[in-house]
Amino acid sequence: MLGNVGMRRVKLNLVILLVLLAILKEVRSHGEQPLSRIAIDKAAFALHDLAYVKASPTILGARGERAEWVTLEFGTSNPSIDDWIGVFSPANFSATTCYGENPRVNPPFLCSAPIKYQYANYSSPEYKVTGKGLLQLQLINQRSDFSFALFSGGLSNPKLMALSNHVAFSNPNAPVYPRIAQGKLWNEMTVTWTSGYGIDEAEPFVEWGPKGGDSIRSPAGTLTFDRTSMCGAPARTVGWRDPGFIHTSFLKELWPNRVYTYKLGHRLYNGRYVWSQKYHFRASPYPGQNSPQRVVIFGDMGKDEADGSNEYNNFQQGSLNTTKQLIQDLNNIDIVFHIGDICYANGYLSQWDQFTAQVEPIASTVPYMIASGNHERDWPGTGSFYGNMDSGGECGVLAETMFYVPTQIRAKFWYSTDYGMFHFCIADTEHDWREGTEQYKFIEKCLASVDRQKQPWLIFLAHRVLGYSSCICYAEEGSFEEPMGRESLQKLWQKYKVDIAIYGHVHNYERTCPIYQNKCTRDEKHHYKGTLNGTIHVVAGGGGASLSTFTTFQTKWSLFKDHDYGFVKLTAFDHSNLLFEYKKSSDGKVYDSFRLSRDYRDILACTVDSCPSMTLAS
Ligand SMILES: [Fe+2]
Repeated sequence: MLGNVGMRRVKLNLVILLVLLAILKEVRSHGEQPLSRIAIDKAAFALHDLAYVKASPTILGARGERAEWVTLEFGTSNPSIDDWIGVFSPANFSATTCYGENPRVNPPFLCSAPIKYQYANYSSPEYKVTGKGLLQLQLINQRSDFSFALFSGGLSNPKLMALSNHVAFSNPNAPVYPRIAQGKLWNEMTVTWTSGYGIDEAEPFVEWGPKGGDSIRSPAGTLTFDRTSMCGAPARTVGWRDPGFIHTSFLKELWPNRVYTYKLGHRLYNGRYVWSQKYHFRASPYPGQNSPQRVVIFGDMGKDEADGSNEYNNFQQGSLNTTKQLIQDLNNIDIVFHIGDICYANGYLSQWDQFTAQVEPIASTVPYMIASGNHERDWPGTGSFYGNMDSGGECGVLAETMFYVPTQIRAKFWYSTDYGMFHFCIADTEHDWREGTEQYKFIEKCLASVDRQKQPWLIFLAHRVLGYSSCICYAEEGSFEEPMGRESLQKLWQKYKVDIAIYGHVHNYERTCPIYQNKCTRDEKHHYKGTLNGTIHVVAGGGGASLSTFTTFQTKWSLFKDHDYGFVKLTAFDHSNLLFEYKKSSDGKVYDSFRLSRDYRDILACTVDSCPSMTLAS
């Protein structure tokens, strides 16, 4: 038996172990939402006569702008280096808005996290001495007014010293941030956007037509949800923010390759119309069509703030760079896949608006197809394959509502989509994919349903690495993949001759040889002629979230590794020639590439395990 001292020592060791494990988990998850560092529910009132915050201008977006800069002037008689300014929206964020989760517990003084924050001395280094400062922040139109609060006590013990005047966009309800996505049919484009107009106030629609031709109007459906749809905190508590209304319209019977223009509209019941600006897109090619087709793929981009508000300091430095490179090259991109870990809101809902604003130039112009990641979906007891808390209580609701994907059921995030000579099968790694599951059946059906003479380029996409990765996170566990990944799926990749499988989740870039069952099936590195005999696996998770470390262990199958931010681009020149490129987000230049050259008959020929054994035997 242990004495008292012994017991205490065991307890102490246990506590140290738990703390270490918690730190390790945080380091590994790469998912800390900066807003979660603020202990908003501990906030206290410390209003001070000499403390002030003034915001100007007070009316934003008078000419229809959806983002505007605001200047803050602030001061206090008792400055400190950890004073900070929180941006709140709605502007009234007092205890009166607190939601009583539990009637026996008094609601806190404050119960909504700010939508962004910045330290008071960020652009005023003399603040500590003079107690006066200036700060410029960028705000986007997200359906509510804004106020700015000066806090002392750092992020962990916030004390509200002063509150600003209110600032608002002239029409906070305006339709904003359209994102287009391929529909269930090749000749259908969906337009999804956000507004403050519910179905009781207005009818949403898209006015659209071929560029220079006649326009028609297509109706849009409207979705929203309330706090009780969230599965837990912070999404249900301090991170909750009214999501407004999310509309989707289906533009049908498009002419292949034609450029269309469109505008978002709301017809108010008093007869007045509210319009967005005009956008355009090019309709997708007919499946199998022979023309150059360019696809960009990355994961884990997240969002970042142009005003440098330090919510993402040291977290997602790459995000704005990736966004910038894609916008600059948009004339040479036909479709984008963001394969999971979309904005790392992690239960702070305001971040979804800010993300859709960041990618608007891309997503309003080319189909922006998403996959589901752990930071969108995972939550204990909600049917996710992993029972962790990475979604911050969102449990998939935000991703499934804010973006359209051509799934049968939005909650089951697997789908297929065609783009000309490409056929894509997109898996949902946050749901079970093993043999015998519904998703496994879908994956097999998707891979089997392609006519390789017309669509030679068969691409498998998923968030977590089901194939091969040299991430230290996997190597430490003695695997080079998500457990049960390739064990379950490599038979299918081989049988249906998947050319390339691309993943996110691990925040770096890596490319393997063509591989099957851990063995390279070809020796070349940059130009593959004829059949691959295996599948090339790529990690493209360097979209923007903080980078993942590689193991120092060298494998035979890893051909190229880059510990940096970047994305990949596939260019199909025709049915026989495909170019794969990896570009860095910092300069948009190509740092790795390979080519596939072959005839479609090369794919039909049998290779190891790709045809039933009976066929080989005969
Ligand atoms: Fe992830």
